[in-house]
Parts: sequence; structure tokens; C-alpha cells
Amino acid sequence: MKKERTFLMIKPESVERGNIGEILGRFERNGFRIVALKLSKLSRERAEKQYEEHRGKDFFDDLVSYMSSAPTVSIVMQGENVIAAAREMAGITDPKRAKPGTIRADYGIDVQRNAIHASDSEKSAKREISIHFGQLE
Ligand code: RTP
Ligand code: MG
Repeated sequence: MKKERTFLMIKPESVERGNIGEILGRFERNGFRIVALKLSKLSRERAEKQYEEHRGKDFFDDLVSYMSSAPTVSIVMQGENVIAAAREMAGITDPKRAKPGTIRADYGIDVQRNAIHASDSEKSAKREISIHFGQLE
């Protein structure tokens, strides 16, 4: 098992609804450790960088507007296999179809307001960590 880092973002509706602690607690209870944490309102530019791979898709503008509309929490989470584990814990994109017990099933509202972002690969994790935190120790 490989010690890894992933990038997570708690989306605006989950910050607004007071679910930061519940969501972070799931990761801590699963043995993962927070190595960087920041509450901030993203600029449009930073939200666009974050979701660059989706530029040109019909949901891109809406997604970027949403993610830069209100504060989010940016997190670097560390632990064994954390990249795949965080995707499992998040559940699939649409909360209505996500498995019971996943973060999106429990806290998400709809496809856009789906509680959390989690990097989908080591390459994405590195790229996203650097967008939000620059160089980390
Ligand atoms: P994420 O990147 O946020 O962890 O989510 P994901 O991998 O499960 O889904 P992805 O396909 O990368 O989509 C990124 C985010 O865009 C929004 N979305 N809206 N309206 C739509 O059809 C649609 N599809 C995707 C969601 O907020 C999704 O998390
Ligand atoms: Mg994605």
C-alpha cells in the first residue's frame, strides 16, 4: 500500500449547511490525516483551472459559477491509498444514484451540489494541490 496525498474540496452547499465537520470526520475516522486546509471563496479563474478538463462541456460555465459563488474548503488529505479511497467514500457524481453511506448520498443535493470534489488520479491530485496550495512541504 502506498502513502498518497489527494485533493478534496467541500462544495459551497455543504459549507453553508454546516457539514464541514461531518465530512472531515469521516476521513479522520478512516485513518487519513489532513495536511493542509483552507476555507476560501474561489476566484472564477481558480475554479476554471480546477475544472479545466471540463472546459467546453455544457455544464462547465454553471459549474465554475457555482464553485466560485460562495466559500469552499480546500483540503490535502494523506494516507494509504487515499486517492481511490476518497473517490469510494464520495460516491458517484449524482447523489441520487450514489450508494447509501457515501458522502454524496448522505449530504449531496443534486449533480452540481454534490457535497465534495475528490481527485481522480495521482496526476490530478498533484495538479489540483498545486492550484490551491502551491508547493507544499
Ligand atoms: P468531481 O470532479 O467534482 O470530484 O466530480 P466527479 O469526478 O464525480 O465528476 P466530473 O465528471 O469530474 O464532474 C465534475 C463536477 O461537475 C458537475 N457536473 N455537472 N450537470 C451535469 O451534468 C454535471 N455533470 C457534472 C458536478 O458537480 C461534478 O462533481
Ligand atoms: Mg472529476
